[in-house]
Formats: sequence, C-alpha cells, structure tokens
Amino acid sequence: MTRKRILSGMRPTGRLHLGHLHGALGNWVDLQNSGSYDCFYFVADWHAITSEYASTESIRDNSINMVIDWLAAGLDPDKSTLFVQSAIKEHAELFLLLSMITPLAWLQRNPTYKEMQAELTSKDLSTFGFLGYPVLQAADIIMYKAYGVPVGVDQLPHIELTREIARRFNYLYQKDVFPVPEPLLTSVPKLLGIDGRKMSKSLDNSINLSDRGTELRQKIASMFTDPQRMRKKDPGNPDICNVFTFHGLYSPREVVAEINRSCRVAGIGCIDCKKMLSARIEEALAPVQERMDYYLSHLQEIHCIITDGNARATKIARQTMEEVREAVKI
Ligand code: TRP
Ligand code: SF4
Repeated sequence: MTRKRILSGMRPTGRLHLGHLHGALGNWVDLQNSGSYDCFYFVADWHAITSEYASTESIRDNSINMVIDWLAAGLDPDKSTLFVQSAIKEHAELFLLLSMITPLAWLQRNPTYKEMQAELTSKDLSTFGFLGYPVLQAADIIMYKAYGVPVGVDQLPHIELTREIARRFNYLYQKDVFPVPEPLLTSVPKLLGIDGRKMSKSLDNSINLSDRGTELRQKIASMFTDPQRMRKKDPGNPDICNVFTFHGLYSPREVVAEINRSCRVAGIGCIDCKKMLSARIEEALAPVQERMDYYLSHLQEIHCIITDGNARATKIARQTMEEVREAVKI
C-alpha cells in the first residue's frame, strides 16, 4: 500500500509563533502522525525573495531556525521529508516551463496578488517574480505529484490556480503527467496577538514557540481582554476575550468552564486569569523548547536532516522532470 503524498511549504519569516502552531504547523504534525500520508514539507525560500528581494540577508538563518521550530513542534524527519526549495533546482526549471503556458490574466486576477500589493505598500511588488508567485507554487506542488496540499483558506486561490495549470499542462501535451491536487483545508481557531490584532511577526504582537520565563509571562500579562471590563468588579465577557480563547486551547475543560462562569460574575480577575494561562502555556511549550534547545546545540544534525530531505526530494523531482521534458519534447 502506497500512502497518498501530501506537500506543503512555508516561507522562512523567522521564529514561529502560536498562530503557526495552531494553524498550519499543528496540522502538519497531525497529518504526519496519522500515518496515512507520505508527507513532504519544505522551506519556500525562493518564495520569500518575491517580496524580500531588497533585503535577503536573513533568509538563510530564518530557514534554519524555521526547520528547528518545525522539529521542536513535532515534525519528525524519519516520518516526513523536510527540504529546502532552493536546493532543488528542478523547481526553477518547472517554474520556467509552467510560466510559458500560464495565461497572464490568470495571475492578474488572483485576489491574493491584488491584496498583497495593496497591503505591502512599503515594497515595490510590481515585479515579474511577484506576479509569478503562484506559478512557482504550482511547480512546488505538482513536482511531487501531490494528492493533497494542507493549507489555510488564504491559500485557496493559489491551489485553484495550481489545479488549472496542472490541467492545462496535461491538455497541451496530451499526457496525464500531473494529478490535479486537492486542498486539505485546515480549520484554524481565530488566535489573535497580544494587542488583539491578527497574530503576526511583522505586527510584533506574537507569542513565539521560543518565548519562555519572564518574557512569556509579560507578554501574556499585557494581552488585551474584554475591553468593557475596566475593573475587577466589572463582569466580563469571555466570548470576546482572546485570553479565554487561549484557555480553550491550553486549559482543561473544567478550568475553562469555571473561568467562563466566574468571569461573567466578576469572580475571577484578569490578572489571575492570565497567570493561570501563563502556567498552562509554559507547561505546554516546555517539551517543545527542550527539543528546540537540543537542536540549537546540535546544528550539525539540522544540516544532516536537511541534506537528507533534499536528497529524497531531488530523487522525485528528477523523475518528474524527465517525464516533463519528454512530454514537452525538449
Ligand atoms: N504561499 C505559501 C504561503 O505563503 C507558501 C508556499 C509556497 C506553499 N509554495 C507552496 C504552500 C506549496 C503549499 C504548497 O504560506
Ligand atoms: Fe478575559 Fe479572563 Fe479577564 Fe474574563 S477574566 S475578561 S476571560 S482575561
């Protein structure tokens, strides 16, 4: 029995945070541990350059640190193939060939493209590479003939484009080289950063997997709660409190129920509620940080893991490219 192959990637943006853990990364670990899939996870470092081309100096370190965070979170190189996009030059060749067959209009109407260009006004994203981002992503995915791609909803337009590109290739060259991949949607609890906005590194409001001790406690102590609750004697509303959302993920059900009750009648105060949360998160992150510390002091092992993953990925990429060149007759 061959297991279905799944593939996903992340841009190396620096240390990962709890938003990543409860979003994509946790799902990656679960899919790996389910034993039902042959998992490929990669560092999308070329994708990082599409927006960071003017300051690439941290991409290498970020890539290594991200792999460390993956392993800390529970990805296991004996079960999953972990690799780095830029080490597999075949991605560039397939990207080139796919770019030949992708109509410009498909890229120009991509909502993610339009949004990012509107949002990241500090960067000039009117480049060829940035417009071609989804074509490179399509190459990443179909190179491995992935059956499924675990992603969040924000990535759906990219997966849809990948499907269209795969179909177009098969049609143009009259050969079913590429299976059409399915998105495997991750349902993500809405976790906000400490300031109540979406948790994000660039907003400097994240709780990182590496946060511990005083720093972690201070971050949690500064979290926004129910804005209507000014004083301890005011009743609160856990339904709109981000601290409570985190309790839902980190505290036992009885504790969550008790906070839910007590907050509404001004029983428990926010300071105590946050202290309880700090203790739970510290406890949950302890084994993650233990693995993180191990790898930080065994960097050579990280390099071996990546080299090994790259070799496994290369093997498949080479095979696919032979079929592709054959189909294209080049
Ligand atoms: N675009 C994805 C993101 O921003 C990263 C990515 C690149 C990716 N290539 C991929 C995800 C292939 C899944 C499959 O998160
Ligand atoms: Fe939020 Fe807890 Fe304060 Fe209630 S007591 S508002 S749940 S932090």
